[in-house]
Amino acid sequence: MHNAGCEQQQHGAVIWLTGLSGSGKSSLAQALATRLGQRGHACYVLDGDTLRSGLNADLGFSPADRHENIRRTGEVAALFADAGLICIAALISPYRADRAAARRACKGAFHEIHVKADLATCEARDPKGLYRRARAGELKAFTGIDAPYEAPEQPDLVVNTATTSLQASLDLLLAYALQQVIRLKTPA
Ligand code: ADX
Repeated sequence: MHNAGCEQQQHGAVIWLTGLSGSGKSSLAQALATRLGQRGHACYVLDGDTLRSGLNADLGFSPADRHENIRRTGEVAALFADAGLICIAALISPYRADRAAARRACKGAFHEIHVKADLATCEARDPKGLYRRARAGELKAFTGIDAPYEAPEQPDLVVNTATTSLQASLDLLLAYALQQVIRLKTPA
């Protein structure tokens, strides 16, 4: 852990949110960061859409590109955790093997959260109009339509946003983060 300069040391960790587009990952990630920040915990959100406009701008949505997207993001998340931050990653990350590799990159400090919502629910929400475009054939290899999503087999937590309100989902996630992720070190 390398959080020199901080008076109150916190162990860095990665909270990795995986789920379909429209499942609520980004909203939950931002809201969780806000709530943890209010309690004095330093957080940083790594969001798939944001990363794809910069660090991962050269990547598309083929299995190989998604693999590289998750590999890079897992490595960056590990660095943030090493710096003592609570890094909240929100990416579809559809392949189990890629998420497992991200877990390895983050050593013991990785928490896999399945932000679960069935396809019909995500498609009905369609916040960016992408499902409509995918159904119209304008977007290829869209996760859930003509590209796979491999649900976690043993996630650390499942938050079902199809059956639970965003507020209640956030409460669940916050409770998990405080109990299982945040561990304050007693100052020497
Ligand atoms: S991942 O599969 O490589 O983990 P990531 O989370 O970075 O995906 O990016 C997903 C976002 O890219 C979606 O929320 C959506 O806005 C956009 N997107 C554009 N094309 C696709 C596609 N074919 N499949 C999934 N998401 C897409």
